[in-house]
Amino acid sequence: MNYTAKMLRDDALKGKTIVVTGGGSGLGKSMTTYFMELGANVIITSRNIEKLERVKTELETKTGGKCLALACDVRNIEEVEAMHKKAIKTFGKVDVLLNNAAGNFISPTERLSANAFDTIIDIVLKGTKNCTLTFGKHWIDTKQTNTSVLNIVTTYAWTGSAYVVPSATAKAGVLAMTRSLAVEWAKYGMRFNAIAPGPFPTKGAWDRLLPEDIRGKFDLAKKVPLKRVGEHQELSNLAAYLVSDFSAYMNGEVITIDGGEWLKGAGQMNLLEQIPEALWDQLEAAIRSKKRS
Ligand code: HXC
Ligand code: NAP
Repeated sequence: MNYTAKMLRDDALKGKTIVVTGGGSGLGKSMTTYFMELGANVIITSRNIEKLERVKTELETKTGGKCLALACDVRNIEEVEAMHKKAIKTFGKVDVLLNNAAGNFISPTERLSANAFDTIIDIVLKGTKNCTLTFGKHWIDTKQTNTSVLNIVTTYAWTGSAYVVPSATAKAGVLAMTRSLAVEWAKYGMRFNAIAPGPFPTKGAWDRLLPEDIRGKFDLAKKVPLKRVGEHQELSNLAAYLVSDFSAYMNGEVITIDGGEWLKGAGQMNLLEQIPEALWDQLEAAIRSKKRS
């Protein structure tokens, strides 16, 4: 078995309609592809309709599934409501909202204008809020059950991270929203879960987090105990499971998929990894000798 193999059975998402914000690129596109392969109808949204239309054609040809491309800036509630209406008009209902759209870039925080900080908060936190409120209220009003929201966060939603402070702040808010609504809206038949990916190379993220000038100096794979970055299919397998009925008892969970990256940074003595194997006999002897002193 290969970890890049497709995990779920072919009809796992048959009959489901899924909205993927930011579905025209990177991880959103990869998850959309797999959802379509598993039988789902997918609505992909972002600001760039030409890109979305290209991806729609590409994925319909590749998977034989149905895709609808809709322009929608998640920061704007009117655009989100219009996107929701068009999705319902086309497919009759939506079962799953995947809040994947994001904005981010590295910067010392003191270099950020108030508008730069707001821009990231608005895309990530306010955008997730706009979509979640719109879809959630509709599910409540129409008494549609067996629905779910999947939010893409990051591991620094709980550790925080220097140089991406607006993103860390916003993702922490999204995680709090996930856990809060998992409890409050469960009575309406909605589930809320999140995925916290470690490094999964995408053009959007790498251009803004690892620009060419520093790319050679920071090998993200080295930060990962498993010594590699993630493969998109690994994330898509997890996302497909979480939006499928196989995960019907999963609610309020955040699943980390990072090869152990964040824990490596957290464990106080993890730096001892740098000690060569040969030195351990000597160290053990030194430590044992101290026991009696
Ligand atoms: C400082 C910057 C800046 C930079 C923009 N700004 N880039 N400030 N350093 N590098 C400032 C601008 O000057 C402006 O403030 C404000 O931010 C808004 O910029 P605009 O370009 O007008 O915004 P907009 O066109 O809406 O674009 C949003 C964006 C852009 C976030 C800046 O990069 C974008 O569209 N990103 C979408 C895709 C993305 O970011 N993907 C990566 C997700 S990766 P002023 O004051 O001048 O008006 C991710 C990974 C997490 O989340 C974890 C990885 C391990
Ligand atoms: P990406 O390709 O840049 O994806 C971001 C998407 O969001 C784009 O499709 C973009 O499309 C869309 N978007 C941005 N602003 C928007 C707005 N205002 N309204 C609507 N859509 C907007 O980057 P990615 O790496 O695939 O990131 C996907 C998700 O994974 C994000 O939530 C990110 O935080 C998360 N993540 C990624 C990694 C990683 O290693 N790649 C790690 C942890 C978490 P347009 O530009 O066309 O609008």
